[in-house]
Amino acid sequence: MIPVCHLTDLPAGESVRIDTAPPIAVFNADGEIYAIDDTCTHQDASLADGWLEGCLVECPLHAASFDLRTGMPTCLPARRAVRTHPVTVEDGMIYVHHAAEEGTAA
Ligand code: FES
Repeated sequence: MIPVCHLTDLPAGESVRIDTAPPIAVFNADGEIYAIDDTCTHQDASLADGWLEGCLVECPLHAASFDLRTGMPTCLPARRAVRTHPVTVEDGMIYVHHAAEEGTAA
């Protein structure tokens, strides 16, 4: 379980990258917190630097879009899903449960 930040430090529409290996991007999509692998499956862009619209994040490099709920790409040029990671909020702190680390691939 990886502490990310306080919930109040990640307002709606914002994202943060955590330097795990591989890095994970955490998003506040209109009050719902999601975590996915930060690296776009097309090339090496950071999805935490992308644009958030609803439950979709658009890659800043070539504009592929990923659904934060499933990790699935919704348009080209990305063809492969990014991994999703379970998130919990406890006492106002956001925690990511690294899918590979804890064997809980979502
Ligand atoms: S690196 Fe993300 S779409 Fe190309």
